[in-house]
Amino acid sequence: MPDLYQKARDILIANDRGGYTVPTDRLYPFQWNWDSAFVAMGFAAYDIPRAYQELERLVEGQWSDGMIPHIIFHAPSDTYFPGPSVWRTAHTVPTSGISQPPVFGMAVKHVHDAAIAAGKPDASARTLPLYEAALKWHRWWYAARDPEGTGLVALLHPWESGSDNSPAWDLAMARVPTTTDTVIVRKDLGHVDAAMRPRDEDYKRFIHLVDTYAAFGWDPARQWRGAPFKIAEVQTTAILVKSGEEIEKLARLLGRHEEADEIAAMNALSRKALLAQWRPALRRFVSRDLISGEDIHAPTQAGFIPLLALDLEPAIRDAACEEMKLWSNGMIVAFPSTPKDYAGFEAKRYWRGPSWAIINWLLIDGLNRNDRSDMAEDLRRSTVRAIETNGFAEYFDPLTGEGCGGLDFSWTAAAYIELSGKVA
Ligand code: GLC
Repeated sequence: MPDLYQKARDILIANDRGGYTVPTDRLYPFQWNWDSAFVAMGFAAYDIPRAYQELERLVEGQWSDGMIPHIIFHAPSDTYFPGPSVWRTAHTVPTSGISQPPVFGMAVKHVHDAAIAAGKPDASARTLPLYEAALKWHRWWYAARDPEGTGLVALLHPWESGSDNSPAWDLAMARVPTTTDTVIVRKDLGHVDAAMRPRDEDYKRFIHLVDTYAAFGWDPARQWRGAPFKIAEVQTTAILVKSGEEIEKLARLLGRHEEADEIAAMNALSRKALLAQWRPALRRFVSRDLISGEDIHAPTQAGFIPLLALDLEPAIRDAACEEMKLWSNGMIVAFPSTPKDYAGFEAKRYWRGPSWAIINWLLIDGLNRNDRSDMAEDLRRSTVRAIETNGFAEYFDPLTGEGCGGLDFSWTAAAYIELSGKVA
């Protein structure tokens, strides 16, 4: 077994806290939603029961309305802010009050397929409750985050995007007040360089939003009406559709035909809405700020994630691919979260320039779906090489390849297992 493949597995073991995996020690000491979905797909390559367990432990945090929160605080830790006392949610395993990109449905299907391929007799029985959790969560996205039925789901907090510090949120966040009664105790700066993290002022706004929604008792309808930040977002919607396709297949395999039709209808609605967000002049898809009513023009990786969920006509696909090539030009590690000629580009500050192995994983799937296996293969090789050269960092400086943020990171280990194509 190659050393790095073993190292990836060792990282997942070191970050295990009892059937769930923390993203990295200290900086992120709890279970994070989309991190765990990627991690489960990594485990599926060699330990199917553990892959199932990762997802089952995530579902312990699911709310009765269907939301799966972005953090599950299974056990206390004082190395992270904001903890449960700031979120003030009512769930019994303490959780945050917002969600995260729904990679979960992709993960459930991926683990199910691996279990079937390995001849596991209990595969369908173990998949069923996870499928049901996914369906409940998808219904929640449409009910709570798209109550007007547009097909694009909205985020009420930047952290809900998974791309927490993206310049896509700058204009919308500038409107959010910095007032908060919560004492802000930055713990992240004790673990990584301040130059890689959000600024203090951003943190005040992040917490202002948490305070606002906590005061609404985390009720989705009250939040929708009173949200100071509301973005109909293409990356999350594309992931929702991709997961939706996977759980639709599961529904059919499990004999849940009515539910399969329901899921197919949600997917179709969102595919149409995503396509309407294509901007030919920009050669990418854009999100919309629902408070200002404006398109969000800041260039970010999110503009290409819809490839994951759409079968594009050649003219659109080729334009998107040309734009992606332009952004990747001269990069040691593609794919940058913003292009280097953008005024807001910062090579090391997270989500403002750096490349991420899990974003590449999604883009590779999207390129393959759209018959651009040549570009997918380049990106796959470049991601594997980045990890082999620079380690299992949280993300990479695209100009130098340097590994940044937290080290020995679970989702980078999972991406290596998936993308290196090496088998135990
Ligand atoms: C950061 C990332 C988010 C991720 C979390 C844990 O907050 O922006 O996407 O889930 O770290 O890795």
